[in-house]
Amino acid sequence: MTETLVLPETSDRATRYHALIPQIQALLQDEDDLIASLANTAAGLFQGLNVLWAGFYLVKHGGLVLGPFQGPIACTRIKLGDGVCGQSWAQRKTIIVDDVDDFPGHIACSAASKSEIVVPIIKQNQVVGVLDIDSIQPKNFSDIDRVALEDLSRILSTKF
Ligand code: SME
Repeated sequence: MTETLVLPETSDRATRYHALIPQIQALLQDEDDLIASLANTAAGLFQGLNVLWAGFYLVKHGGLVLGPFQGPIACTRIKLGDGVCGQSWAQRKTIIVDDVDDFPGHIACSAASKSEIVVPIIKQNQVVGVLDIDSIQPKNFSDIDRVALEDLSRILSTKF
């Protein structure tokens, strides 16, 4: 079976999500394996949003551990409260960083990253992981991304 994403020509984010999210949902629908689900989601977001890095950190033994991702190699472990990911986990909320240089404690896995969004994945009131997306452009993420990715995060939480 071929799995091909069909994406619009436009770079308009809302239009891209409108096309992308149902296709990711369809990929996830009949799959209950966590790693398979996260891996295809990371690939779909990476391809669909034209970003530097898209992937997951998973809560394991009290820390965040690198999960499935697409993009340059990344740091493997992040502590609660450290960087944007650790803050999203600690605050249990989505964090959008317009300019990573302005975020105290930002963890620069790649020097090319200029802006970032991190969305917590919450299951039964516990953060079980975070979705992290990085861009080489400053101010690349907005409320449009937050709303779409929080929806996706709710779907993914059922796989944990
Ligand atoms: N910048 C993140 C670390 C993860 S990488 O961007 C993939 C942070 O500050 O938590």
